[in-house]
Amino acid sequence: MPKVILGIETSCDDTAAAVVVEGQLRSSVVASQQALHNRYGGVVPELASRDHQRQIVPVVRQALQEAQLQPADVDAVAVTYGPGLIGSLLVGLSFAKAFALGLGRPLIGVNHLEGHMYSVFLTAPSPPFPYLCLVVSGGHTQLVRVEAGFQHEVLGRTRDDAAGEAFDKVARLLGLGYPGGPEIDRLAQKGDPAFIRFPQPRLEGYDFSFSGLKTAVLYYLNQFSETERDRLLRHHLADLCAAFQQAVVDVLIDALRRAVEATGIRHVAIVGGVSANSGLRAAAEALSQALDFRLYIPPMAYCMDNAAMIAITGYFKAQAGLTSPLTLSAKPTLAA
Ligand code: KG4
Ligand code: ZN
Repeated sequence: MPKVILGIETSCDDTAAAVVVEGQLRSSVVASQQALHNRYGGVVPELASRDHQRQIVPVVRQALQEAQLQPADVDAVAVTYGPGLIGSLLVGLSFAKAFALGLGRPLIGVNHLEGHMYSVFLTAPSPPFPYLCLVVSGGHTQLVRVEAGFQHEVLGRTRDDAAGEAFDKVARLLGLGYPGGPEIDRLAQKGDPAFIRFPQPRLEGYDFSFSGLKTAVLYYLNQFSETERDRLLRHHLADLCAAFQQAVVDVLIDALRRAVEATGIRHVAIVGGVSANSGLRAAAEALSQALDFRLYIPPMAYCMDNAAMIAITGYFKAQAGLTSPLTLSAKPTLAA
């Protein structure tokens, strides 16, 4: 049974490597490209893949050094093969294949979304199976029932924008920087969520839709003249942030509440970058008290994209004998 798992993640704009030994995290290194993409207001795929190429070797070397291990100590290589940007995925996947082939070790392909779902096993306490997992990040929004043995069921997913993407796009409309989630969160804490009520689309089942909400903010702003809009943003920016954030949180929490009631599952995880949101955290904690379930939100470092979650998922997959052929290809649109 492989003991030492090297995890590699390059699906978007973070080059990351981590080491898990017998289910315990030993090191986790993330080289963020945020500064590279900031001035474009979003990730530029071509720049991302080039930067992954530049970073992958030093990042893996650092992860091994921090774990006080040599390359030959690695028993298996776990790597994200999708979903994500094709050029970015290919850098990590090609590196992982070469590493695995060179050392004669198994390769373990990991779905990035599974990685987020299993990030709850990096720290104690971790939930028992089955648990409900709300994955909310810049790229994904879905509610999953996670069963043992990689038998999960996606209960609902976004039909358009991810929750984090909605935060980022609305932040841009409000003249805030990228990524916009943290900034909206900070301002929302000083604002009045009842300043205006934005629409909160409730779809059938547990699916989400956030693009209408973004458009509602745009239409709201467009009804004013430029001078009026400037004045509004000067005096009511925090209120607008609070109202928008409230709409997103209400939609997410409503789905979570219905899922807990329908499934009777008493263990709920929230993972992904948006789980940092203070409004979402407070609402989820209140819901956990009201419905008497246990809430698991990993530390921020493991909520943002990282390779620790890929290494721990690889560890679970290795336990289940789930390895991948060296012909594994990158799958940009892989679903959970
Ligand atoms: O998980 P993550 O690092 O990357 C993806 O896999 O997408 O998530 C990044 C997303 C961004 O959209 C960012 O705006 C959002 O998470 N985010 C937040 C907060 N912190 C990060 N959104 C709302 N409130 C926050 N405090
Ligand atoms: Zn992610």
